[in-house]
Amino acid sequence: MSYSLQARRQGKDFLVIGHRGAAGHAPENTMASFLKAVDLNAPMIELDIHETRDGVLAVIHDQDVIRTTDGPGPVEDMTWSELQGLDAGGWFRPEFAGETIPRIEQVLEAIGPRALLNIEVKSGRGLYPDIVRKLAALVRAYDLTDRVLISSFHPEYLRQARELLPEAEISIIYAKAHTEAVQEAVREGWHSLHPRWDHVTPELLAEAHEHGLLVRPWNFKGAQRMRPFLEMGVDGVITDFPD
Ligand code: G3P
Ligand code: MG
Repeated sequence: MSYSLQARRQGKDFLVIGHRGAAGHAPENTMASFLKAVDLNAPMIELDIHETRDGVLAVIHDQDVIRTTDGPGPVEDMTWSELQGLDAGGWFRPEFAGETIPRIEQVLEAIGPRALLNIEVKSGRGLYPDIVRKLAALVRAYDLTDRVLISSFHPEYLRQARELLPEAEISIIYAKAHTEAVQEAVREGWHSLHPRWDHVTPELLAEAHEHGLLVRPWNFKGAQRMRPFLEMGVDGVITDFPD
């Protein structure tokens, strides 16, 4: 599937983005969830990364493993080997017991050729100083520079990504009202806005589109809530239910 920056800028690619894979159907941010999203034909899959104490980029949403595994502890204080010993699926449904936390390389290799990837860079107690540099090197090594979108709540990560992966789309995420979102994106050179769904208005869309920015809200639980935004003209949706 081609995903050229030019087509994106012209707003031709309406994107359904599977949130944490297909988090409504399988345990978020596991290979089971990513494969489910691929089965459901999600053209793009969103995932979250943190960095372990020994420098591995681990695919998990929270700073702490306690919600989505059978163990407690901050990812940044644990080694990759410790993380691998955790069950990341049983909390969701017993049939998923045995799923483990993936490292980013697994996703780049197995999912990268099958779906576009929206890689969200998370923070621990602070920003991870090396995470974007490591991610950029891996995206290059797997030859996926034109198949990834780098997103974050943290502008500093996006500035680094813009320099290190100039071919990739860069998206700012926000969850609070942000009246300067469009001006900031234009000033910083981001390509798209990923606001929480309740911050999307016709005015925001008009202003963003006037400046060539794409707007893809998150996270919709169901089609009913999504429909008015599709009618409003958003450029994609980030959803637990890509089907
Ligand atoms: O991509 C947007 C969305 O993933 C941001 O929120 O907390 O689910 O990572 P969160
Ligand atoms: Mg996310």
